[in-house]
Amino acid sequence: MRPGYASGFETMRSLVNDRPLEVTGQLPDWLRGTLIRNGPGLFEAGPDRLRHWFDGLAVLHQFKLGQGQVHYRSQPLQSPDFLVARRRGRLYYSNFATDPCVAKFRRLFSAFFPRLELGANANVNVTRLGERFLALTETPMAVEFDPRTLSTLGVIRFEDPMADNLTTAHPHHDANRGSLINVTLELGPRSTFRLTELLPGATRRQVLGAFPVERPSYLHSFGMAENWFILTLGALVVDPRKLLLRRRPFIENYRYEPERGTTWALYDRRTSRFQSLQSEALFTFHHVNAFEQGSDLVVDLITYPDARVVDSAYLDALARAEEVPGGQLRRFRLGSTIRSELLTDLSLELPRIHPTRLGRPYRYVYGMSQRPGTSRDFFNMLARIDVTGGPELTWSESGVYPGEPVFVPRPEGTAEDDGVVLCVLLEGSDSSLLVLDASNFKELARARVELAIPFGFHGSFYTL
Ligand code: CO
Repeated sequence: MRPGYASGFETMRSLVNDRPLEVTGQLPDWLRGTLIRNGPGLFEAGPDRLRHWFDGLAVLHQFKLGQGQVHYRSQPLQSPDFLVARRRGRLYYSNFATDPCVAKFRRLFSAFFPRLELGANANVNVTRLGERFLALTETPMAVEFDPRTLSTLGVIRFEDPMADNLTTAHPHHDANRGSLINVTLELGPRSTFRLTELLPGATRRQVLGAFPVERPSYLHSFGMAENWFILTLGALVVDPRKLLLRRRPFIENYRYEPERGTTWALYDRRTSRFQSLQSEALFTFHHVNAFEQGSDLVVDLITYPDARVVDSAYLDALARAEEVPGGQLRRFRLGSTIRSELLTDLSLELPRIHPTRLGRPYRYVYGMSQRPGTSRDFFNMLARIDVTGGPELTWSESGVYPGEPVFVPRPEGTAEDDGVVLCVLLEGSDSSLLVLDASNFKELARARVELAIPFGFHGSFYTL
């Protein structure tokens, strides 16, 4: 039987130039701006099929809100991957869990491309650096786009020694310097994670610090506190030679090795030095927040006891409605020892917080969840967790699948939950934009797209 969420993993039926949406309910007057979201939107090229949720070719989505109206637009990102797929009707570049060369031309291509050759299918996140808007993934290149039209402006290739390094799609903004801080990974006999800083207008990143490792962990995001950057190096690790040989798609070279535990690489921004701590094994995609409290560094993560969640996102597994393991919102206190506690019994993924609470003590996390007892369903509930122990809020409707909830603060608001949560819902073969009051999770408005938007990853709200 076809799962109720199936159209969330299928190629979009059509792309939309600019369409006013039918709105039910009442949008707050103060809510004016643009939600830009990124995610996979095309899952095949001619006879070639992508294999994993994370592989789909990027489509950008724009919801423009103001004066009680919502306008929607979508455009495919004109990455090298997309352009080649359109021109040749085949896949060419390797992706997270799909490597067309592995299947068909391994010997031929490895002779020509002995290095890791990844494309720039920047389908994970969007960010702003000065006046430039960038679509991001974990490969070395970012793709610049116009936030008003969503048209692609070009691929940014960095002119620095990390130009062919892997990176993350979750950079942090340094508010004082207007820069983007990110992590790169150089693969080699001894691999090196580096913290880098990119200033607006620059194409060279400055290295803030380096952390060498023997077996690099898969790193999707990292934490930022006032004086620290936190790299949580979990137990899903790779022998770098395997990545370079390309006998398997990217992520299938990684192995969960719990005996290695977790290494916390902690960069002290005051001394520009790394130190490290060890704890039990875990897997994580997303840091939620981090802050200092007394002599402790508090780090909140969405954790898993192993990396099966990666396997659960293969399109075949999703079509069979196999179990989707739930993420656990866990707090780690890093001091002379490491203590951890579970902050809620609800599962959570794609966590978001109030944008100005990053790096500071905070109270609320918003995320996608699963109604208890429905782990063979996809994310079918939204949740707000109070990390100080207050009651949880949830929102769900039968047959409705929410994406990442983006919190937008009311400009004059002071309370941490004074604002709305914006979330793209999938309901059968239709999607809509849901606007929830963040303080009570009551629906304020909903705008129907009349088109299925595949499940995306991350987005941001801009006052454009
Ligand atoms: Co992410």
